[in-house]
Amino acid sequence: MRIEQFAMERMQSTWENIVDYDMSESGVRPLTLRELAGLGFDLEGFLDEPLGYSQSNGTIELRERIAAIYPGASVEQIEVTNGTSEANYLIALSQLRPGDTVAMQVPNYMQMPGVARSLGADVRAFRLRTDAAWEPDWDEFERAVTPETRLLYLSNPNNPTGSILSDAAMRRIAERCQQTGTWLLADEVYLGAETGDERTQSFWGMGDRVIVTSGLSKAYGIPGVRIGWIVGPPELVADCWSQHDYITIGPSKLADRVARVAVEAANRERCYSRTRDILRHNLPIARAWVNGFGGRLSWTEPRAGAIGLMKYAADTPSLAVAERIRTKQSTLIVPGIHVGLEGHLRIWLGGREDFLREGLRRIGVELTSLFD
Ligand SMILES: Cc1ncc(COP(=O)(O)O)c(C=O)c1O
Repeated sequence: MRIEQFAMERMQSTWENIVDYDMSESGVRPLTLRELAGLGFDLEGFLDEPLGYSQSNGTIELRERIAAIYPGASVEQIEVTNGTSEANYLIALSQLRPGDTVAMQVPNYMQMPGVARSLGADVRAFRLRTDAAWEPDWDEFERAVTPETRLLYLSNPNNPTGSILSDAAMRRIAERCQQTGTWLLADEVYLGAETGDERTQSFWGMGDRVIVTSGLSKAYGIPGVRIGWIVGPPELVADCWSQHDYITIGPSKLADRVARVAVEAANRERCYSRTRDILRHNLPIARAWVNGFGGRLSWTEPRAGAIGLMKYAADTPSLAVAERIRTKQSTLIVPGIHVGLEGHLRIWLGGREDFLREGLRRIGVELTSLFD
Protein backbone atom coordinates (compact mmCIF):
# COMPACT_ATOMS: atom_id res chain seq x y z
CA MET A 1 0.00 0.00 0.00
CA ARG A 2 1.43 3.35 -1.03
CA ILE A 3 0.66 6.40 1.06
CA GLU A 4 1.33 10.07 0.36
CA GLN A 5 3.46 11.94 2.85
CA PHE A 6 1.54 13.61 5.70
CA ALA A 7 3.04 17.02 4.94
CA MET A 8 2.37 18.75 8.26
CA GLU A 9 3.45 15.87 10.50
CA ARG A 10 6.62 15.34 8.47
CA MET A 11 7.52 19.01 8.60
CA GLN A 12 6.91 19.07 12.35
CA SER A 13 8.90 15.93 13.10
CA THR A 14 11.77 17.17 10.93
CA TRP A 15 12.10 20.59 12.58
CA GLU A 16 10.24 20.85 15.90
CA ASN A 17 13.14 19.61 18.02
CA ILE A 18 15.74 21.63 16.13
CA VAL A 19 14.28 25.14 16.03
CA ASP A 20 14.54 27.53 18.99
CA TYR A 21 10.80 28.26 19.00
CA ASP A 22 8.38 25.55 18.05
CA MET A 23 5.19 27.51 17.40
CA SER A 24 3.70 24.69 15.30
CA GLU A 25 2.20 22.83 18.26
CA SER A 26 -1.54 22.54 18.78
CA GLY A 27 -2.11 21.57 22.43
CA VAL A 28 -1.26 23.42 25.62
CA ARG A 29 2.14 22.97 27.23
CA PRO A 30 2.04 19.43 28.61
CA LEU A 31 1.65 18.29 32.19
CA THR A 32 4.51 16.40 33.84
CA LEU A 33 4.28 13.08 35.69
CA ARG A 34 4.88 15.03 38.89
CA GLU A 35 1.89 17.25 38.17
CA LEU A 36 -0.16 14.13 37.46
CA ALA A 37 0.92 12.82 40.86
CA GLY A 38 -0.78 15.90 42.26
CA LEU A 39 -3.98 14.61 40.64
CA GLY A 40 -3.65 11.32 42.52
CA PHE A 41 -1.42 9.41 40.14
CA ASP A 42 0.49 6.79 42.18
CA LEU A 43 4.09 7.50 41.15
CA GLU A 44 5.53 4.95 43.62
CA GLY A 45 3.19 2.24 42.37
CA PHE A 46 4.27 3.09 38.84
CA LEU A 47 7.80 1.95 39.70
CA ASP A 48 6.49 -1.51 40.58
CA GLU A 49 4.33 -1.95 37.49
CA PRO A 50 5.45 -5.13 35.66
CA LEU A 51 6.33 -4.05 32.14
CA GLY A 52 4.28 -6.69 30.38
CA TYR A 53 1.70 -6.41 27.64
CA SER A 54 -1.45 -4.58 28.49
CA GLN A 55 -5.00 -5.52 27.52
CA SER A 56 -4.81 -4.80 23.78
CA ASN A 57 -8.08 -2.86 23.48
CA GLY A 58 -7.53 -1.05 26.81
CA THR A 59 -7.91 -2.35 30.36
CA ILE A 60 -11.46 -2.85 31.51
CA GLU A 61 -10.98 -0.18 34.16
CA LEU A 62 -9.86 2.37 31.58
CA ARG A 63 -12.62 1.47 29.15
CA GLU A 64 -15.19 1.74 31.94
CA ARG A 65 -13.98 5.21 32.79
CA ILE A 66 -14.01 6.29 29.15
CA ALA A 67 -17.46 4.74 28.61
CA ALA A 68 -18.74 6.78 31.56
CA ILE A 69 -17.96 9.97 29.60
CA TYR A 70 -20.37 8.98 26.80
CA PRO A 71 -23.96 8.43 28.00
CA GLY A 72 -25.26 4.96 27.20
CA ALA A 73 -21.87 3.60 26.02
CA SER A 74 -20.65 0.23 27.33
CA VAL A 75 -17.09 -1.13 27.50
CA GLU A 76 -17.66 -3.11 24.26
CA GLN A 77 -18.10 0.23 22.54
CA ILE A 78 -14.66 1.50 23.50
CA GLU A 79 -11.33 0.73 21.83
CA VAL A 80 -8.27 2.29 23.46
CA THR A 81 -5.63 3.26 20.91
CA ASN A 82 -2.19 4.81 20.57
CA GLY A 83 -3.43 8.38 20.25
CA THR A 84 -6.41 9.79 18.42
CA SER A 85 -4.49 9.40 15.18
CA GLU A 86 -4.42 5.60 15.54
CA ALA A 87 -8.12 5.69 16.42
CA ASN A 88 -8.90 7.53 13.16
CA TYR A 89 -6.62 5.21 11.22
CA LEU A 90 -8.25 2.03 12.56
CA ILE A 91 -11.68 3.31 11.56
CA ALA A 92 -10.48 4.06 8.02
CA LEU A 93 -8.73 0.68 7.73
CA SER A 94 -11.71 -1.27 8.93
CA GLN A 95 -14.41 0.65 7.02
CA LEU A 96 -13.01 1.96 3.72
CA ARG A 97 -12.79 0.02 0.47
CA PRO A 98 -11.46 1.02 -2.97
CA GLY A 99 -14.02 3.17 -4.75
CA ASP A 100 -15.64 4.47 -1.53
CA THR A 101 -16.25 8.17 -1.07
CA VAL A 102 -15.13 10.04 2.04
CA ALA A 103 -16.44 13.51 2.91
CA MET A 104 -14.06 15.77 4.76
CA GLN A 105 -14.46 19.10 6.50
CA VAL A 106 -11.66 21.48 5.38
CA PRO A 107 -9.51 23.10 6.73
CA ASN A 108 -8.63 20.32 9.09
CA TYR A 109 -6.07 17.98 10.53
CA MET A 110 -5.17 16.34 7.23
CA GLN A 111 -4.64 12.75 8.34
CA MET A 112 -7.86 11.33 6.89
CA PRO A 113 -7.43 12.37 3.23
CA GLY A 114 -4.03 10.68 2.98
CA VAL A 115 -5.22 7.51 4.69
CA ALA A 116 -8.47 7.37 2.70
CA ARG A 117 -6.70 7.82 -0.64
CA SER A 118 -4.15 5.13 0.26
CA LEU A 119 -7.09 2.74 0.71
CA GLY A 120 -8.47 3.64 -2.73
CA ALA A 121 -11.22 5.99 -1.55
CA ASP A 122 -12.14 9.27 -3.20
CA VAL A 123 -12.12 12.34 -0.91
CA ARG A 124 -14.65 15.17 -1.29
CA ALA A 125 -14.10 18.31 0.74
CA PHE A 126 -16.68 20.66 2.15
CA ARG A 127 -15.30 23.93 3.36
CA LEU A 128 -15.72 25.91 6.53
CA ARG A 129 -16.43 29.42 5.27
CA THR A 130 -13.82 32.09 5.95
CA ASP A 131 -16.50 34.75 5.38
CA ALA A 132 -19.08 33.25 7.76
CA ALA A 133 -17.27 32.56 11.05
CA TRP A 134 -16.34 29.05 9.84
CA GLU A 135 -19.91 27.92 9.23
CA PRO A 136 -19.88 24.88 6.90
CA ASP A 137 -20.59 25.65 3.25
CA TRP A 138 -23.90 23.78 3.13
CA ASP A 139 -24.03 23.52 -0.67
CA GLU A 140 -20.66 21.80 -0.68
CA PHE A 141 -21.75 19.69 2.27
CA GLU A 142 -24.85 18.43 0.43
CA ARG A 143 -22.72 17.57 -2.60
CA ALA A 144 -20.09 15.81 -0.49
CA VAL A 145 -22.44 13.70 1.64
CA THR A 146 -24.62 11.46 -0.51
CA PRO A 147 -25.78 7.81 -0.27
CA GLU A 148 -22.41 6.92 -1.88
CA THR A 149 -20.48 8.48 0.99
CA ARG A 150 -19.10 5.82 3.30
CA LEU A 151 -17.55 8.10 5.93
CA LEU A 152 -17.55 11.76 6.90
CA TYR A 153 -14.62 13.10 8.91
CA LEU A 154 -14.75 16.31 10.90
CA SER A 155 -13.00 17.73 13.93
CA ASN A 156 -15.13 19.55 16.49
CA PRO A 157 -13.75 21.80 17.92
CA ASN A 158 -11.91 22.18 14.65
CA ASN A 159 -8.17 22.15 14.07
CA PRO A 160 -7.02 24.66 12.76
CA THR A 161 -9.83 27.25 12.97
CA GLY A 162 -10.68 26.74 16.65
CA SER A 163 -14.34 26.92 15.63
CA ILE A 164 -17.18 24.98 17.25
CA LEU A 165 -20.21 23.79 15.31
CA SER A 166 -23.57 25.20 16.44
CA ASP A 167 -26.21 22.79 17.76
CA ALA A 168 -28.20 23.31 14.55
CA ALA A 169 -25.17 22.54 12.37
CA MET A 170 -24.44 19.39 14.38
CA ARG A 171 -28.04 18.19 14.03
CA ARG A 172 -28.01 18.90 10.30
CA ILE A 173 -24.78 16.93 9.81
CA ALA A 174 -25.94 14.00 11.95
CA GLU A 175 -29.35 13.84 10.23
CA ARG A 176 -27.79 13.87 6.79
CA CYS A 177 -25.44 11.02 7.75
CA GLN A 178 -28.37 9.07 9.16
CA GLN A 179 -30.33 9.54 5.90
CA THR A 180 -27.41 8.66 3.63
CA GLY A 181 -26.11 5.77 5.77
CA THR A 182 -22.75 7.52 6.16
CA TRP A 183 -20.51 6.94 9.16
CA LEU A 184 -20.04 10.27 10.93
CA LEU A 185 -16.54 10.26 12.43
CA ALA A 186 -16.36 13.16 14.89
CA ASP A 187 -12.82 13.75 16.10
CA GLU A 188 -13.37 15.46 19.47
CA VAL A 189 -9.80 15.62 20.73
CA TYR A 190 -10.15 19.40 21.36
CA LEU A 191 -13.44 19.08 23.27
CA GLY A 192 -12.88 20.62 26.70
CA ALA A 193 -10.28 23.14 25.47
CA GLU A 194 -12.71 26.03 25.00
CA THR A 195 -11.37 29.55 25.36
CA GLY A 196 -14.59 31.05 26.77
CA ASP A 197 -17.51 29.88 28.90
CA GLU A 198 -19.23 27.77 26.25
CA ARG A 199 -18.79 23.98 26.26
CA THR A 200 -18.57 21.87 23.12
CA GLN A 201 -21.30 19.25 22.85
CA SER A 202 -20.31 15.77 21.76
CA PHE A 203 -21.82 14.19 18.66
CA TRP A 204 -22.25 11.05 20.76
CA GLY A 205 -25.92 10.12 20.96
CA MET A 206 -26.89 11.92 17.73
CA GLY A 207 -27.78 8.78 15.79
CA ASP A 208 -26.53 5.27 15.22
CA ARG A 209 -24.06 6.29 12.50
CA VAL A 210 -21.97 8.35 14.95
CA ILE A 211 -18.41 7.36 15.85
CA VAL A 212 -16.39 9.56 18.20
CA THR A 213 -12.62 9.58 18.51
CA SER A 214 -10.72 11.47 21.16
CA GLY A 215 -7.67 11.21 23.36
CA LEU A 216 -5.39 12.79 25.91
CA SER A 217 -3.33 14.95 23.55
CA LYS A 218 -5.09 18.31 23.44
CA ALA A 219 -7.74 19.22 26.03
CA TYR A 220 -6.08 16.96 28.65
CA GLY A 221 -2.62 18.32 27.86
CA ILE A 222 -0.68 15.01 27.85
CA PRO A 223 0.08 14.05 24.22
CA GLY A 224 3.20 12.11 25.22
CA VAL A 225 1.07 9.49 26.95
CA ARG A 226 -0.15 8.54 23.45
CA ILE A 227 -3.61 7.42 24.46
CA GLY A 228 -6.69 7.87 22.33
CA TRP A 229 -9.96 6.02 21.92
CA ILE A 230 -12.84 5.12 19.68
CA VAL A 231 -16.47 5.15 20.83
CA GLY A 232 -18.89 3.55 18.42
CA PRO A 233 -21.31 0.72 17.72
CA PRO A 234 -20.00 -2.62 19.12
CA GLU A 235 -19.54 -4.27 15.68
CA LEU A 236 -17.51 -1.36 14.35
CA VAL A 237 -15.39 -1.30 17.49
CA ALA A 238 -14.83 -5.07 17.15
CA ASP A 239 -13.66 -4.50 13.54
CA CYS A 240 -11.23 -1.83 14.73
CA TRP A 241 -9.90 -4.16 17.42
CA SER A 242 -9.17 -6.76 14.71
CA GLN A 243 -7.12 -4.18 12.81
CA HIS A 244 -5.39 -3.17 16.02
CA ASP A 245 -4.21 -6.75 16.66
CA TYR A 246 -2.19 -6.57 13.46
CA ILE A 247 -0.71 -3.09 13.83
CA THR A 248 0.48 -2.30 17.35
CA ILE A 249 -1.43 -5.01 19.30
CA GLY A 250 -2.40 -2.30 21.75
CA PRO A 251 -1.31 0.66 23.84
CA SER A 252 1.49 0.50 26.40
CA LYS A 253 0.72 -0.64 29.91
CA LEU A 254 2.32 2.47 31.38
CA ALA A 255 0.17 4.72 29.23
CA ASP A 256 -3.00 2.83 30.16
CA ARG A 257 -2.16 3.35 33.81
CA VAL A 258 -1.65 7.10 33.39
CA ALA A 259 -4.82 7.36 31.32
CA ARG A 260 -6.92 5.71 34.02
CA VAL A 261 -6.05 8.59 36.33
CA ALA A 262 -6.48 11.35 33.73
CA VAL A 263 -9.95 10.33 32.52
CA GLU A 264 -11.42 9.90 36.00
CA ALA A 265 -14.23 12.49 36.14
CA ALA A 266 -12.75 14.93 38.66
CA ASN A 267 -9.29 14.77 37.10
CA ARG A 268 -10.68 15.27 33.63
CA GLU A 269 -12.24 18.51 34.80
CA ARG A 270 -8.96 19.53 36.43
CA CYS A 271 -7.04 18.91 33.19
CA TYR A 272 -9.63 20.79 31.14
CA SER A 273 -9.66 23.71 33.50
CA ARG A 274 -5.84 23.95 33.49
CA THR A 275 -5.98 23.99 29.66
CA ARG A 276 -8.65 26.68 29.63
CA ASP A 277 -6.71 28.81 32.12
CA ILE A 278 -3.65 28.70 29.86
CA LEU A 279 -5.74 29.61 26.81
CA ARG A 280 -7.55 32.45 28.58
CA HIS A 281 -4.23 33.86 29.73
CA ASN A 282 -2.64 33.68 26.27
CA LEU A 283 -5.49 34.78 24.05
CA PRO A 284 -5.27 38.52 24.86
CA ILE A 285 -1.53 38.42 24.15
CA ALA A 286 -2.16 36.91 20.73
CA ARG A 287 -5.04 39.34 20.09
CA ALA A 288 -2.85 42.37 20.79
CA TRP A 289 -0.14 40.96 18.53
CA VAL A 290 -2.57 40.40 15.63
CA ASN A 291 -4.03 43.89 16.09
CA GLY A 292 -0.52 45.32 15.88
CA PHE A 293 -0.40 44.57 12.14
CA GLY A 294 -3.08 47.14 11.32
CA GLY A 295 -5.33 44.71 9.44
CA ARG A 296 -2.64 43.01 7.37
CA LEU A 297 -2.97 40.00 9.63
CA SER A 298 -6.51 38.99 10.53
CA TRP A 299 -8.30 36.13 12.25
CA THR A 300 -11.52 34.85 13.66
CA GLU A 301 -10.48 34.21 17.24
CA PRO A 302 -10.45 30.54 18.23
CA ARG A 303 -13.32 29.40 20.46
CA ALA A 304 -11.31 26.32 21.39
CA GLY A 305 -7.82 24.89 21.08
CA ALA A 306 -4.37 26.35 21.44
CA ILE A 307 -4.02 27.56 17.88
CA GLY A 308 -4.71 30.72 15.93
CA LEU A 309 -5.37 30.57 12.20
CA MET A 310 -4.38 33.88 10.69
CA LYS A 311 -4.86 35.28 7.21
CA TYR A 312 -2.00 37.39 5.91
CA ALA A 313 -2.29 40.10 3.29
CA ALA A 314 0.36 39.00 0.78
CA ASP A 315 0.49 36.73 -2.26
CA THR A 316 3.49 34.72 -1.06
CA PRO A 317 2.54 31.04 -0.64
CA SER A 318 2.14 30.01 2.98
CA LEU A 319 4.88 27.37 2.73
CA ALA A 320 7.37 30.04 1.62
CA VAL A 321 6.30 32.31 4.50
CA ALA A 322 6.70 29.47 7.01
CA GLU A 323 10.10 28.52 5.56
CA ARG A 324 11.30 32.09 5.80
CA ILE A 325 10.25 32.26 9.46
CA ARG A 326 11.93 28.95 10.19
CA THR A 327 15.22 29.71 8.46
CA LYS A 328 15.57 33.35 9.52
CA GLN A 329 14.07 33.17 13.01
CA SER A 330 14.53 29.52 13.99
CA THR A 331 10.79 29.44 14.62
CA LEU A 332 8.43 26.79 13.30
CA ILE A 333 4.82 27.49 12.33
CA VAL A 334 2.32 25.55 10.19
CA PRO A 335 1.65 26.93 6.70
CA GLY A 336 -2.03 27.06 5.76
CA ILE A 337 -1.41 24.75 2.81
CA HIS A 338 -0.71 21.94 5.31
CA VAL A 339 -4.17 22.28 6.86
CA GLY A 340 -6.04 22.82 3.61
CA LEU A 341 -6.27 26.63 3.52
CA GLU A 342 -3.72 28.65 1.54
CA GLY A 343 -3.05 32.28 2.49
CA HIS A 344 -3.17 31.46 6.21
CA LEU A 345 -0.72 30.55 8.96
CA ARG A 346 -1.40 28.35 11.98
CA ILE A 347 0.35 29.61 15.09
CA TRP A 348 0.57 27.93 18.50
CA LEU A 349 -0.93 29.78 21.47
CA GLY A 350 -0.48 27.20 24.21
CA GLY A 351 2.99 27.91 25.58
CA ARG A 352 4.31 29.83 28.57
CA GLU A 353 3.87 33.58 28.33
CA ASP A 354 7.54 34.41 27.74
CA PHE A 355 7.80 31.67 25.10
CA LEU A 356 4.63 32.85 23.38
CA ARG A 357 5.75 36.49 23.36
CA GLU A 358 9.18 35.71 21.94
CA GLY A 359 7.80 33.27 19.36
CA LEU A 360 5.26 35.85 18.19
CA ARG A 361 7.93 38.55 18.10
CA ARG A 362 10.11 36.45 15.83
CA ILE A 363 7.22 35.61 13.51
CA GLY A 364 6.29 39.29 13.51
CA VAL A 365 9.75 40.36 12.32
CA GLU A 366 9.33 38.32 9.15
CA LEU A 367 5.69 39.24 8.59
CA THR A 368 6.54 42.93 8.89
CA SER A 369 9.22 42.64 6.23
CA LEU A 370 6.84 40.56 4.07
CA PHE A 371 4.21 43.31 4.27
CA ASP A 372 6.65 46.18 3.59
C1 LIG B 1 -8.01 16.89 15.05
C2 LIG B 1 -6.83 16.06 15.44
N1 LIG B 1 -6.98 14.73 15.55
C3 LIG B 1 -5.96 13.94 15.91
C4 LIG B 1 -4.71 14.46 16.18
C5 LIG B 1 -3.62 13.53 16.61
O1 LIG B 1 -3.85 13.32 17.96
P1 LIG B 1 -3.03 12.26 18.85
O2 LIG B 1 -1.81 12.97 19.33
O3 LIG B 1 -4.00 11.96 19.97
O4 LIG B 1 -2.72 11.08 18.03
C6 LIG B 1 -4.50 15.83 16.07
C7 LIG B 1 -3.16 16.40 16.31
O5 LIG B 1 -2.87 17.54 16.06
C8 LIG B 1 -5.59 16.65 15.71
O6 LIG B 1 -5.44 17.96 15.61
